[in-house]
Amino acid sequence: MKILPLYLLYAAGFSLTLTRRGFRAGATPIIRETGKPPERILIVGATGGTGRELVRQALERGYSVTAFVRNPARLPIQHPQLTVKQGDVLDYASVEAAVRDQDAVVSALGHKRFFYPNRIQSDGISNILRAMKAHGVRRLICETALGLGDSVGRLGPVATLFAVPVILPFYFWDKARQEQLIAASDREWVIVRPATLNNKPARGSYRHGPEAGSFWGVPRISRADVADFMLEQLTSNTYLGRAPGLSW
Ligand SMILES: NC(=O)c1ccc[n+]([C@@H]2O[C@H](COP(=O)([O-])OP(=O)(O)OC[C@H]3O[C@@H](n4cnc5c(N)ncnc54)[C@H](OP(=O)(O)O)[C@@H]3O)[C@@H](O)[C@H]2O)c1
Repeated sequence: MKILPLYLLYAAGFSLTLTRRGFRAGATPIIRETGKPPERILIVGATGGTGRELVRQALERGYSVTAFVRNPARLPIQHPQLTVKQGDVLDYASVEAAVRDQDAVVSALGHKRFFYPNRIQSDGISNILRAMKAHGVRRLICETALGLGDSVGRLGPVATLFAVPVILPFYFWDKARQEQLIAASDREWVIVRPATLNNKPARGSYRHGPEAGSFWGVPRISRADVADFMLEQLTSNTYLGRAPGLSW
């Protein structure tokens, strides 16, 4: 009987920690004038759900795309404007080789190692940011999730009170660190925080910004719409130095 209040205390405490550790608007964003629009983009996490959508849509939009992958066999897309580079975000040398000669980086990095502490996402973004600085690559668009920083609670009550603190605490802890590293960087960055993802077709219209997501229900969005929004951020300055949420 005393378990429930203790559990709720833990869940609320964890949410508070994510609020403090994730990016919060108000921290002064670094906004720079962009040069010419990017033409060559590196997509990290290209074999994942969002990543494949990013590759497909970026090619449709006419970008020269480099897909950064651990296993090329997992990317079933071929195109004259597509280059595949094999590597691992935790291996700086392979990250640097892929980031060189790019105009921008788009990351949909994720993993399924939920149940033990790791820094795959934050160490991965740290390597990406270091390589971007080394090669003068200015713009980073990075997918994290609603439920961090000033979006805590917007993933809905089930995720906020159960999924995040019970199933995904290590994952979200590392995502918060990932956001901190991005926000502290001197690159032009946009953190994109989607709601729960699905593989439905793009609707082409979705909510973005601080009002996205919901404190009730289970807010959702398709990976196809997330990819659309992320690619828009390559040439838009609206959310530079910000962390817009994204949901239907
Ligand atoms: N699922 C949701 O409901 C939800 C909601 C909000 C936000 N998000 C976030 O959105 C992002 C994308 O999610 P998703 O489900 O579309 O992607 P995903 O299918 O989980 O794909 C993750 C990608 O990251 C790659 N990756 C993992 N470790 C790597 C490493 N060490 N080096 C290089 N690449 C590596 C994977 O490569 P392999 O193919 O080799 O494994 C894969 O391409 C994630 O950050 C996720 O946390 C998810």
